[in-house]
Amino acid sequence: MDISAIAGYNDKDMDSPRPDILADLAPLVARINAAIARLMARDDEIVAKVGDYCFDAGGKRIRPLLFCLMTQALLQPLTESRLETGASFEFLHMATLLHDDIVDAATLRRGRAAAHLVYGAPEAVLAGDYLLAKASLLGAATDNLECVKTMAGLVSTLSLGELVQLGARRQVELTEADYFQIIYRKTAVLMEGATRIAAVLAGADGPTLAAAAHYGRQFGLAFQIMDDILDYHGDQTTFGKPVGHDLDDGKITLPFILAREALDAPKRRRLGGLAGQDRLSPADHLAIGQLVAEGQGVNRARLKADELVRAAQTALTALPPSAARDQLTALAAFTLSRDH
Ligand code: IPE
Ligand code: IPE
Ligand code: MG
Ligand code: MG
Repeated sequence: MDISAIAGYNDKDMDSPRPDILADLAPLVARINAAIARLMARDDEIVAKVGDYCFDAGGKRIRPLLFCLMTQALLQPLTESRLETGASFEFLHMATLLHDDIVDAATLRRGRAAAHLVYGAPEAVLAGDYLLAKASLLGAATDNLECVKTMAGLVSTLSLGELVQLGARRQVELTEADYFQIIYRKTAVLMEGATRIAAVLAGADGPTLAAAAHYGRQFGLAFQIMDDILDYHGDQTTFGKPVGHDLDDGKITLPFILAREALDAPKRRRLGGLAGQDRLSPADHLAIGQLVAEGQGVNRARLKADELVRAAQTALTALPPSAARDQLTALAAFTLSRDH
C-alpha cells in the first residue's frame, strides 16, 4: 500500500545529512562483518544455517557501528577483540529480529522471506536464543563486570519492551509517554547499551560515560520513531520489510498518537474505531492514513525525531573532537533521512 501521497509527509522538510555516511563507514562495516563471520564459523551447522541466512541478507550493522565508533571517539584502538564485542550487539539485534518477526507475524525481513517462514518458527526461536547466549558469552569475555551487568540488564529490558508492546496492541488511547517507554525498552536500550559499554570498556569517567549513553539512547529513540514513520510512508522494496504492517498488528505508534491528539473529538473517535478493529481492510488503511495526514501525524513525529537527534549530537560535544565523533554525528543525522 502506498499512502505516501496522503501521509502528510513532506520530503522537502528533511535536513540534508551527509549522504555518504554509510559509504564512509563501509570499511568499518567490512571489519565488523569479518568479525561476525569469524564468530559464526565456530558455530554448529544447524545454527549457522539460520544465522547465515539472516546475516547474508544484509542489514546496516548500526549497533556494532555505534559501539565501534564510540570506542574510537573515546580514543581507544579498535582491536579484534573489541570488534568481537561490537559484533555481540548485532547478535543481540538479530536474536530480537528472529523473535520479533514471529511475534509480529512478519513475512519480510531485509528484503527476504523472514527466517521463520524458511526454517520454521521453532528453529527461528531456538536460533534466536542461541544468538542471545552467544552475545552474553562475548560480553563475559570482556572480563568486565560492569559490561556484563549492562548487557544482562538490556537483554531483560528488550524482552520486557516486546511484552509490554504486545499488551498494548489496539490500545488506541496509548499515550506518548507509554509509546516512549515501549520504544526505549524494545529498541533504544540496545543502542544505549552499545555506546555505554564502549565507554565502560574505554574506562571513561562518569560524565563521559553518561554522555555516551545519552547519545545512544536518544539515537535509538529517534531511530525507532523513523522506523515507525517508514511503516506509514516507506517503500516496501527499499525498506526491506512490510509497510502498513504496524496497523495490521494493532501497533499504535507516534504518527498515530500525535495525529489523534490534534483531531477533533468525532474524528478522534473515528480514528480509534478504525485502528481498534481486529482486521483492517485496504479501505480502513486508507481512511486511517487520511486521518493521520489530517492530524499531521508524520510531520509531528518527525519533529520529535529531529529533537532527539539534536540532543544526541549535543551529547557528543562532551567528547574530544575526532573523525569518529564526526561520524557519530553524521550517523545520527542519517536516521532522519533513512529509507531502509
Ligand atoms: C530494525 O532495525 C528494527 C528496529 C529497531 C527498528 P534496523 O533498521 O537496524 O535493521 P537492519 O539490521 O538494518 O536490518
Ligand atoms: C523493533 O520493533 C524492535 C525490535 C525488538 C525488533 P518493530 O517490530 O517495529 O521492528 P520491525 O519493524 O519489525 O523491524
Ligand atoms: Mg516487527
Ligand atoms: Mg517497525
